[in-house]
Amino acid sequence: MAKSGRKPGRAVNAVLADPVDRFGLPMPFGWFAVARSDEVVAGEALSVVLAGEEFALWRGEDGEVRGIDAICRHLGSHLGHGGVVVGNDLRCPFHHWTWKGDGGVASIPYQEKVPLRLSKACNLALPIHEDMGIVFAWWHPDRVKPLFAMSRVEEVAEQGWIAADYREWIFDVHIQEITENGADVAHFPALHNFPSPPVPEFKVDGYFRYSSASSKMPTARGMVEGKIDVRAIGPGISFTRFWGITDMLMLQMQTPLDGSRTALRHIYFHPADLEDKKVNVTRKLIRNTASQLEEDAKVWSHKRHLEKPLLVKNDGPILEYRRFYSRFYAGRD
Ligand code: FES
Ligand SMILES: [Fe+2]
Repeated sequence: MAKSGRKPGRAVNAVLADPVDRFGLPMPFGWFAVARSDEVVAGEALSVVLAGEEFALWRGEDGEVRGIDAICRHLGSHLGHGGVVVGNDLRCPFHHWTWKGDGGVASIPYQEKVPLRLSKACNLALPIHEDMGIVFAWWHPDRVKPLFAMSRVEEVAEQGWIAADYREWIFDVHIQEITENGADVAHFPALHNFPSPPVPEFKVDGYFRYSSASSKMPTARGMVEGKIDVRAIGPGISFTRFWGITDMLMLQMQTPLDGSRTALRHIYFHPADLEDKKVNVTRKLIRNTASQLEEDAKVWSHKRHLEKPLLVKNDGPILEYRRFYSRFYAGRD
């Protein structure tokens, strides 16, 4: 038989090149990380994708970040490619109209007066919130204004915890699947080699979700019992606080790019004066979290979302999680 150059164990027809929509889920509304603060540099626009749409972000001379739909409503140029910041406004590269952060036109160089219908918001403006070195944007498919607020994080805002590390990935998976992972307790021993599944408590309060779990954590002295508290703000942001063997706060931000791709960003905070021994444990936890994600990603890249999964009693609070999540799908709650 002729040689194919393929590795043994891999068939020529192994992958659906253009698969069906593996998830069949809509885009949730909420606050999502759209950029790191240091990516929105003075003077120029930054192009970002959120929930299947393109937006242009920029920082005005007053330091505030603004964001509008990237497509200039005049004749369709992309403001994220070649847009220039003028004062607090963004100038389109094509005919030099300038856009305000509220989505209205500030000026048209060859027209004395901007017509009223254009000076009022005629492009979509994103509500923006900047904190902890991240630019967050509110997205809703029906353009509804923010339904909940981003809250301050005590450890960072008041106790001066420092960011020890930052990581980012893009995964081929719908955003809902990423956080469903935490409720899916049976996969921890199977996929991540945990000695036993975590035992989570799960509490919902409006648009927020709290869960708490005892879990074994790796240390130089072997596996040690630790505690994890998770606080989720909507579908896009969660804080995981590690207690016991170290003090760490992991800010996880998942941002839907489209129905099957999600950007994930992590910032790991710890107290500025954390003792050396605990710094080492923290480093190890960070490495562990990252390698766990890589193990998950191998499953995520090919899995599908099953509306009616065949669950058994010890599968964990998966359906409870899905009920909570569905409130972020407009018209479904
Ligand atoms: S397309 Fe933007 S100013 Fe004309
Ligand atoms: Fe996992």
